[in-house]
Amino acid sequence: MIELGVNIDHVATLREARKGDAPDLIAAAKMCELAGAHQITIHLRQDRRHIQDRDVEVLRQALLVRMNLEMGAADEIIAIAHRIKPYTVCLVPENRQEVTTEGGLDVASQQERLTEVVQGFHENDIRVSMFIDPDTPQIEASAAVNADSVELHTGAYANAKGDALLAELRRLEDAADFIAQTGMAFHAGHGLTVRNLAPVAALRDLREVNIGHDIIARAIFIGLEGAVCEILATLQAYGL
Ligand code: PXP
Repeated sequence: MIELGVNIDHVATLREARKGDAPDLIAAAKMCELAGAHQITIHLRQDRRHIQDRDVEVLRQALLVRMNLEMGAADEIIAIAHRIKPYTVCLVPENRQEVTTEGGLDVASQQERLTEVVQGFHENDIRVSMFIDPDTPQIEASAAVNADSVELHTGAYANAKGDALLAELRRLEDAADFIAQTGMAFHAGHGLTVRNLAPVAALRDLREVNIGHDIIARAIFIGLEGAVCEILATLQAYGL
């Protein structure tokens, strides 16, 4: 089946709005775990706008499911990842002005450095995923740097309407077919919701989705457990 990583960054966004203790990030992670999430995903940004260093440390101890650490390939964050040893790191582009991760990582233009970064993580038994746009050169470059998986950025699909939406879906389908030839595992994420997930869940050999904003937003109305469960129900219907 397709596995669900719940991105809980926005629980921390709400907490940081008051710089206090609520809502409790660890309680939220454990609730997602109890609801059946397969993984907890967090992004330790260089500007620390939501997840803080201590969150990463405490979650690493508290989680029973896998931790997926999203991160830019900055030396400071790489050093933290090596010390914490999450199950996976997902390398993303990072820009301090952006509201959220706006596009995929340009792996093709930095193959030499990323090969070294990936090798370093492998030597420390950490799997590496590349968050990329659904484009052939980026998939080829991810395979060339020995990534274990690629997470296709589904933001363009999520924002598109009408014919453009069909075109973005076709782009994801073509990318999924190409990934299947590389031996890398196929993940997807960004902008996925309980309403737009089904066509993505039907993509060839999809193994994992990472969903944050929609689950945390739905949780305001139906609770976190319910928000996780409705995504899992969609995945079960399409991902068998
Ligand atoms: N996957 C990656 C690599 C991301 O950077 C993000 C956003 O932090 C997500 C998934 C989740 O995106 P969303 O919050 O839109 O579900």
